[in-house]
Amino acid sequence: IGQVDDVQELHRTGLQTVPDRYIRDGDDRPDGDNVCAVAHIPVIDVAELQRDDVGLDKLRLACEEWGFFQVVNHGIAHELLDEMERLAREFFMLPLEEKEKYPMAPGGIQGYGHAFVFSEDQKLDWCNMLALGVEPASIRQPRLWPTAPAGFGETLETYSAEVGELCRRLLARIAETLGLAPATFADMFGEAVQAVRMNFYPPCPRPDLVMGLSAHSDGSAVTVLQQDAGCAGLQVRGKGGAWVPVHPVPHALVVNIGDTLEVLTNGRYKSVEHRAVANGEQDRLSVVTFYAPAYDVELGPLPEFVTDEAPCRYRRFNHGEYSRHYVTSRLEGKKTLEFAKIDPL
Ligand code: SIN
Ligand code: FE2
Repeated sequence: IGQVDDVQELHRTGLQTVPDRYIRDGDDRPDGDNVCAVAHIPVIDVAELQRDDVGLDKLRLACEEWGFFQVVNHGIAHELLDEMERLAREFFMLPLEEKEKYPMAPGGIQGYGHAFVFSEDQKLDWCNMLALGVEPASIRQPRLWPTAPAGFGETLETYSAEVGELCRRLLARIAETLGLAPATFADMFGEAVQAVRMNFYPPCPRPDLVMGLSAHSDGSAVTVLQQDAGCAGLQVRGKGGAWVPVHPVPHALVVNIGDTLEVLTNGRYKSVEHRAVANGEQDRLSVVTFYAPAYDVELGPLPEFVTDEAPCRYRRFNHGEYSRHYVTSRLEGKKTLEFAKIDPL
């Protein structure tokens, strides 16, 4: 795949034009008339969810109508969120030689670099990534955990423990919104897999021509995303097809349904396409946690969701199989999930 430029270095050289490999075709640019700035994804109060049915109804609606929502009162200390953001940002600000001590192997998924790049002619995202497997400990690659800035690894562990706890609480409530016992997903997922990806988007001289992160759905069960309060960039594909910007709410976390839940619910809840656009003036950071079943868990629609009106739409497969397929495919809308469809459209 040749040498992939480091976008942070391109930015540091003060370039005024964008290399060809980043320039998108017309219909794949962010400036389309297809952005709907007035709609917004729901905000869910997690404390309310624990208390009453009104909260559950809101959550059900958010899952059905959007597949994306922000959570507040999530129980994770704001100081911890700030600290994770600070350390991640400091990491991306380090000199390239320092970051390259943790290289993502070509076609690999952990370390610093460019994931999801498989061919010379593929358009590249205006983004750098640091991706790390966190849970269970057997998926960790300690060589790839940054030793600078100081405290990075410890904070990431604490952060991941808290975010994992939030995922389990949300999955219990999500199960209830589907009429399932709260422990359904916890029982099924076994030793859940948790990975984190930090995305850093340097300012781009032509944000109108590039994409920060290509449109995709997540392979997870649920994803928890922390975004920079100072700079918007995440956009979600609304039901009507328009891209809806997610306005940062300080210390809120963005939660979305991933492909795994779509399969388990036979499409009752759907994973939703999203993308990140670049910015002309500011850099932007997001810290994303993917929460998914253990690799040996067999996936397929739960019997509760397969009826005469809703025939089975997905085959049975191992989560590990899906995970491998996901990380070896380009980010391209919901295409990765075709893998699971019984009758791909
Ligand atoms: C992602 O989908 O992994 C990140 C999107 C964002 O940076 O907001
Ligand atoms: Fe994503």
